[in-house]
Amino acid sequence: LTNTTSDARSARVTEVVVFGASGYSGLELLDILARHPAVRVVAASSDRWAGEEVAERLRAWPTGLRFAPHAEVLEATRPGQVALLAMPAEGSAELAPALLERGLRVIDLSGAFRLRDPAAYEAWYGFRHPAPGLLDEAVYGLPELFEVPADARLVANPGCYATATILACAPLLAHHLLVPGSPLVADGKSGVTGAGRSVKEELMFPEVQENLRAYRVGRHQHTPEVEQALEEVSGRAVRLSFTAHLIPMRRGILVSVYAPLHRGVGAADVERAYRETLGGRPFIAWVDRPPETALVRGTNFVELHAQVDARTRTVCAFAAIDNLGKGAAGQAVQNLNVLLGLPEGTGLLPGVSADG
Ligand SMILES: NC(=O)c1ccc[n+]([C@@H]2O[C@H](COP(=O)([O-])OP(=O)(O)OC[C@H]3O[C@@H](n4cnc5c(N)ncnc54)[C@H](OP(=O)(O)O)[C@@H]3O)[C@@H](O)[C@H]2O)c1
Repeated sequence: LTNTTSDARSARVTEVVVFGASGYSGLELLDILARHPAVRVVAASSDRWAGEEVAERLRAWPTGLRFAPHAEVLEATRPGQVALLAMPAEGSAELAPALLERGLRVIDLSGAFRLRDPAAYEAWYGFRHPAPGLLDEAVYGLPELFEVPADARLVANPGCYATATILACAPLLAHHLLVPGSPLVADGKSGVTGAGRSVKEELMFPEVQENLRAYRVGRHQHTPEVEQALEEVSGRAVRLSFTAHLIPMRRGILVSVYAPLHRGVGAADVERAYRETLGGRPFIAWVDRPPETALVRGTNFVELHAQVDARTRTVCAFAAIDNLGKGAAGQAVQNLNVLLGLPEGTGLLPGVSADG
């Protein structure tokens, strides 16, 4: 009987539609989903590459699927499918309601449904939200800290810097180890794929190579998302001073967070907080050295480490992720697995199948 049940379960294949498949995150999604045992990608949208074989851009692609225009892909969607949106936030905010209405479930990789306060979209994203009624329904897809119900219709996949920053310091806040009211200070450093594939002068090779610079100082759009998540974790107001930096590498993010510790808090308390908050999670790797982006490249893992500086009574917490992995496509597939009732590592970890 067990075998029959498990055979039936593994035979169930869910149809998935990827919007924005020509982007860095969209192609990464296709790459992961090509090897996913319980999912079949039935459409990949791109206006730019419409008509081209996916295999021309992704050599490992197994079928004859071609990129198709966004409007055509929307028109062909069917109830019961899952749509993964890897496109700019303003476009996602318009498209997601249409997909929900057509009976699909949606995982959105943009920031369009991450913030609860509609007014925050004008302040941080520069557009008026067209579907504010969905912001309460959207589930923030960080399964390490927040429950993602299997019947959720709309999942907001967290931002890349946000994922790293939240995971780097959530245990410290959950265990109230920090001086209350003092702002968190975080430095985020990202490879250039974090900015997407669009052509911009400041992202050209000669501008980026052998160069290092901060950008969007004090106004990065992931700031309110991190504050919102950490407030939920700690039950207290959180203020974050965040600075993003562009690093001359293709992929990877390292976030370093600095915060003052309560008197008497030591390294053992800090380590216990991480173990109790995040221990046992399949993609969390607590390491006893500063994390490295090269070690998580091409994976959905997060390397975490925190060090107490007793002299200044501060803690330095670090997280390294692949911006296209745990920062985007990997995390979206992790969330997709939750929606499909599969082990989180299906298609992401060797040896984890749709049967667990
Ligand atoms: N890059 C990262 O590391 C990263 C990490 C986390 C989250 N994200 C988020 O994921 C989303 C995609 O980012 P990306 O960096 O992968 O983007 P990207 O490389 O710039 O690609 C953008 C994609 O969006 C498509 N697109 C543009 N307007 C569209 C519309 N109105 N309807 C449908 N598709 C549309 C483009 O299709 P065409 O072929 O037609 O141009 C292209 O495939 C963004 O919201 C970004 O903030 C990115």
